[in-house]
Amino acid sequence: MSSNNNIDATVRISGLDKHFGPETAVLDFNILIEQGEFVTLLGPSGCGKTTTLRCVAGLERPDGGDIFIGDQLVASYEQDVYLNPEDRNIGMVFQSYAVWPHMTVFDNVAYGLRVRRAGKSEIKKRTMRALELVGLDHLADRYATKLSGGQRQRVALARAIVYEPRVILFDEPLSNLDAKLREQMRDEIVRLQKEVGITSIFVTHDQSEALVMSDRVVVMDKAVIQQVGDPQDIYANPANAFVANFIGVTSLLKGRVIGHSNSIYDIELPSIIGGEPLRLRATGETGIGEESEVHVSLRPEDVTLNTDKPSDAENLNLLEGKVIDTVYLGSFLECRVDVKGHEINIQIDHFENLSRDQTVFLTFRAEHALCLAN
Ligand SMILES: Nc1ncnc2c1ncn2[C@@H]1O[C@H](COP(=O)(O)OP(=O)(O)OP(=O)(O)O)[C@@H](O)[C@H]1O
Ligand SMILES: [Mg+2]
Repeated sequence: MSSNNNIDATVRISGLDKHFGPETAVLDFNILIEQGEFVTLLGPSGCGKTTTLRCVAGLERPDGGDIFIGDQLVASYEQDVYLNPEDRNIGMVFQSYAVWPHMTVFDNVAYGLRVRRAGKSEIKKRTMRALELVGLDHLADRYATKLSGGQRQRVALARAIVYEPRVILFDEPLSNLDAKLREQMRDEIVRLQKEVGITSIFVTHDQSEALVMSDRVVVMDKAVIQQVGDPQDIYANPANAFVANFIGVTSLLKGRVIGHSNSIYDIELPSIIGGEPLRLRATGETGIGEESEVHVSLRPEDVTLNTDKPSDAENLNLLEGKVIDTVYLGSFLECRVDVKGHEINIQIDHFENLSRDQTVFLTFRAEHALCLAN
């Protein structure tokens, strides 16, 4: 299969809106996806991922905005343009691997080429090449009913890439597979995508899948994009409390800014249990005002747990708390600590004997706590 480098397969979505009756499924969605890029739409159930994908595919008609594939306008509300799915040259792989049971693996994959009236030798060559790419060439003559779930999903993948579409759309293609197979298929899709170089839009609500697979991740909530960035950036610099909470594990504490210098903020956390408020310093985007209500985000790996009060904690935030519980997770220990009514998760990479209600001391650097606007 030749790579698509010679085809302009950028995807540009601007101001995309889609409503279903009173419900807004997608609101003002904007992105420019580069040729060959792997972009994932990530977000909780009902946030509008599938609807966005279906608008690109031509399975939904937008209520606002434009969609370009390369320099071709495939949908525009304002200009009343709407190309049918078959005229958009897009491949699709969905969650329910819709392979035809009464056909062989070869015929399932060749179908798209036959519909496009390709020649017989061309069909054979391209179908076998697609099957090789997904590692199923040795099963070309087998009936689709006699395949495992993972093999069927590979057939669906081969079928989507066989006619070398400009763009490939994936809607939770791995969610019907067991954990092990899921991981294997995940790696295969990434390898294949890089090898063939097809611009890809992948939908999932699984954050680890998104982080591992993507060049860029689009985090959505309630029909609206919350953040677009590469996986490291989204993890390290979440734009708001929703993103911090959705990507990875974090403890979110509600507080109030009481002072700042540059991007270091002094934050007061009201103590739920009563008594003195907690104070801590955190980094954040400049522009958060004095007295602002904010969230402090603390990643479990950034907090150190001390069983004795550290004597040299001058440049660190120091909080005293009590152990709620610990969970042993193989390579590390996860510990929940109550700090005056605030629950903080900590990851400990060595074995530590901690008992319930034991007093512990948490330390973390200001740069490792994030102050996020609400
Ligand atoms: N055909 C439809 N008719 C009415 N409402 C719809 C239709 N399709 C989607 N919706 C609504 O639009 C919103 C977005 O749905 P969408 O399927 O895009 O979510 P999603 O992010 O893909 O969720 P999931 O992770 O559960 O698949 C939801 O509230 C959903 O109920
Ligand atoms: Mg969906």
